[in-house]
Amino acid sequence: MDEAKSQTLSLNIPNWGMDLAGYESACRYLGLSSDPTLHDKVARYLLLTAATHPSPTGFGRWLAELRPGRLSLGFLDVWTRLLMPSHPWRYRLNAILAVHECDPRGFREMMAQPESRIGTWLSFARISATAFLNLILGGVWLCGQACAYAATGRGLRRERAYFAGKTVLVTGATRGLGLALSARLLSLGTNVVAVVRASPALEALHSQIADAGLEKRFQIATADVAIHGALSTALAEIGVDAADIDMAVINAGIKEESSLPGTDEALKRVFGVNVFGAMDTAAALLPAFRVRGRGHLIFISSLGRWHGMPASGSYNASKAALSLLVESLAMDLRNDGRKAIRITSVEPGLIRTGMVAGGTLQDLLAVDAETAARNILQCAARGCQICRFPFLFTSMTAMIAALPMGLRVRILGRVRNRK
Ligand SMILES: NC(=O)c1ccc[n+]([C@@H]2O[C@H](COP(=O)([O-])OP(=O)(O)OC[C@H]3O[C@@H](n4cnc5c(N)ncnc54)[C@H](OP(=O)(O)O)[C@@H]3O)[C@@H](O)[C@H]2O)c1
Repeated sequence: MDEAKSQTLSLNIPNWGMDLAGYESACRYLGLSSDPTLHDKVARYLLLTAATHPSPTGFGRWLAELRPGRLSLGFLDVWTRLLMPSHPWRYRLNAILAVHECDPRGFREMMAQPESRIGTWLSFARISATAFLNLILGGVWLCGQACAYAATGRGLRRERAYFAGKTVLVTGATRGLGLALSARLLSLGTNVVAVVRASPALEALHSQIADAGLEKRFQIATADVAIHGALSTALAEIGVDAADIDMAVINAGIKEESSLPGTDEALKRVFGVNVFGAMDTAAALLPAFRVRGRGHLIFISSLGRWHGMPASGSYNASKAALSLLVESLAMDLRNDGRKAIRITSVEPGLIRTGMVAGGTLQDLLAVDAETAARNILQCAARGCQICRFPFLFTSMTAMIAALPMGLRVRILGRVRNRK
């Protein structure tokens, strides 16, 4: 019975629990001798804690699942003391110390650990340094929060002033980034003309819009942007003139995994939407922008445009072509004296949408569609010509793009093999 109970308690609770081997490593790190009975107590405590505390996500989850060794425990101990006091590893280490202190043998062991004169000074120095570091980090964090709060307020005001009352065309608005952009634009008081392909999901979108009473502010034009001229026909069908549109977010895009060469059809399909579809959308609106003397085209490219990727050659190449076409278009408009027609090229890293497969690395590096939509619209409202995010992914891409091709092939080729 006792054995069965002990086995149950030894079970590893996802992200919170600690198996016997982990407990033994932690005891070695703490200078205590392990005891299976005490491990049961620790496991029971962690089970209760897991029920009342949220499971860590992203980097925290990765840390929680790290195999404990002497080095990693040292790092985890310091890291959770300084930066993540609510992390499962802090609870695990504290629980072991507390349980051993309550146990007569553990207590004797803990009392027996000699604290030399030098050791006392070292402890004192460590505690002071920790407190000082906490103070500095806390101050920096507080300043960061205050700045972010002020910037968010200013960014939102600017975004609202820029988009409210305007009519914005969004392609690929059924899901993912396009849907998040449309929702945010609606919340800013913008009229949205959504360009979507005919699909079963369309009916649901129509009824959602009707339920929200947004028919007047959210019009749906049904067109496949890869078909030349389909967009103009679709706009005419719903009675929208290109002259009524102030801006466009050219977002529709597809990604097909296929290795090169021998992918004629896949290559054509991807370029058909990502390059020709995007340029066709711009061409349908630019004459009206020229007549009016202003307008704003926001193109959704990708950070993938900076280098190749295994099985994503067609997608990355299409985004490279799009980015260069957009840059050239901005130059042409400038040379024509059309500075008031704005061009923004958006190069996001990973966004959590149907286009991206899930995984630990993706969870860590990706932003959600709502955050991406906010970044894009705030960037556009500031008049930025280029918008890249998130910061970590952008920095990694810049470093990778600067490497010689041979090294890139070796490093990025491996990324896929590991999956
Ligand atoms: N997700 C990322 O990590 C990421 C990163 C960088 C850049 N981007 C870019 O962001 C844009 C949006 O991507 P997403 O992540 O939101 O992808 P998604 O969830 O797959 O959505 C793509 C959207 O494009 C529409 N679309 C595809 N082909 C179309 C066509 N021929 N005509 C009209 N609409 C079409 C889709 O409509 P249906 O529902 O009819 O298929 C869908 O609404 C794309 O340009 C993508 O390349 C994405």
